[in-house]
Amino acid sequence: MPEWLNHAIFYEIYPQSFYDTNGDGIGDFEGIIQKLDYIKGLGCNALWLNPCFDSPFKDAGYDVRDFKKAAPRYGTNEDLVRLFTEAHKKDMRVILDLVAGHTSEEHPWFLESCKTEPNEFSNRFIWTGHCFERAEGLGFIGGEAPRDGTYIINFFKCQPALNYGFYQPRKPWQLPLDHPDCVATREALKDIMRFWLDLGCDGFRVDMAESLAKYDDDKKSGTSSIWRNIRAMLDKEYPEAMLVAEWSNPELSLPAGFHADFLLNHIVGGGYYSLFRRYNNSPGKAVIEEDRSFFKKDGGGDIRLFLDDYLPRYEKTKNSGFISLITGNHDTIRTRFNLTPEELKLAYGMIFTLPGVPFLYYGDEIGMRYLDLPTKEGGYFRTGARTPMQWRAGKNLGFSSAPEEALYLPVDSAPNAPTVESEEKNPASLYHTVKEILKFRQTHEELDGRPNLEILYAEKEKLPFVYKRGSLILAVNPESQRVSAPIKVSGGSPLYSIGQGRLENGTCTLEGQSFVIFGT
Ligand code: GLC
Repeated sequence: MPEWLNHAIFYEIYPQSFYDTNGDGIGDFEGIIQKLDYIKGLGCNALWLNPCFDSPFKDAGYDVRDFKKAAPRYGTNEDLVRLFTEAHKKDMRVILDLVAGHTSEEHPWFLESCKTEPNEFSNRFIWTGHCFERAEGLGFIGGEAPRDGTYIINFFKCQPALNYGFYQPRKPWQLPLDHPDCVATREALKDIMRFWLDLGCDGFRVDMAESLAKYDDDKKSGTSSIWRNIRAMLDKEYPEAMLVAEWSNPELSLPAGFHADFLLNHIVGGGYYSLFRRYNNSPGKAVIEEDRSFFKKDGGGDIRLFLDDYLPRYEKTKNSGFISLITGNHDTIRTRFNLTPEELKLAYGMIFTLPGVPFLYYGDEIGMRYLDLPTKEGGYFRTGARTPMQWRAGKNLGFSSAPEEALYLPVDSAPNAPTVESEEKNPASLYHTVKEILKFRQTHEELDGRPNLEILYAEKEKLPFVYKRGSLILAVNPESQRVSAPIKVSGGSPLYSIGQGRLENGTCTLEGQSFVIFGT
């Protein structure tokens, strides 16, 4: 386990929308370099960039055409290397997005694979036996290529699945994991990883990490064996490199070789979801019917919905890696959609003080809104969470000097749209709270990623929620009323507070909408 991960606090950047320095309306590597001090000042010490490789961008870059070439719209490989170097000078890390399960339909491997004549890449993707043959239980496309067969896709039509083999093959075209052509796919993935690690990147967020082996068992034994093989390579050749999975199943992903896994970021009805998104609507419908999210003021939320899901996973995995809680990401509706900045302060207070490696999505620190927009680059409902970063008042809110029509996506046109500038000026802003909490975390070792969590009070539909990490006691109350709970600790004094609270004579009392860290 790389030691730096114990202290890592990530900032996720959707490169399209972060900062445009060449006036073409889309973000670039140079823009990220220029904002490194901003990110560091916020309290983050690591970056995750969404895919920034050559791509037709039918799924915002998750359809990679050349894994070893930076997308020209963001800059060159040299610019990306400069980003690694500049970040390292500031003691920051940069991880890239590894789209391991599929490529773009325009990737040269796939184009070769489509040919009728057998070649080195014929089995790099998964083809059925003939043009009308279906692949049971898997998405497939027919009629697109000269080759007589249909091919399996992983996500959209533009994303053919790479062939790592079948854990339980049923037909001759379903190759076993140890087939030389499937092993070759795995080795090709390692080659891509080595390429970027040699250029200075610090690891990868792995897209759809659970998707490699097809017809896998419930334990994902096939996919796990592939990742364990890859992790062994990293441990030997790049022991400082990190792997974080988009898997949402740490009980499986951590033993499979990942250092961290995002918990529950896309599982509707799951524990993570109950913290922010427990409202009756479906993605993209900008209507909130009833919001019972834990952090919604007076929403009647229930911390047990989160804990009953999180704690067993945490207990089972705490000695093998980290659970990563996120403020949001490029696939989710921004939490500002239904929560106010005051509610978000409490949410971030909790997310950034639980064990694990936390991730802050760009713009969440200033409470950027979710916009109702038509789809862009395969974003659909996700598009509204991918709009340009809001830096300051004035043209395009400081994101770009391009004409408005040339912007990748429109900036928030609301007169009160928050910007970094306006949030910096307001001492009571969400931005300042984020900075304070992250600073507190960084200056108190007991709050780093390592496991030391104890639950002191967490009753069904009751408040406050009180937990302990080392000698610190943390309590949160999203409701408007004062609440109190018996705690088996004689007393403590507030070291950091949003709102107000007391810990005396075995009772923890929190005023309405408060989050307090007590020293004991
Ligand atoms: C992951 C990415 C998402 C992408 C999909 C297909 O879920 O986060 O943005 O569309 O995989 O690669």
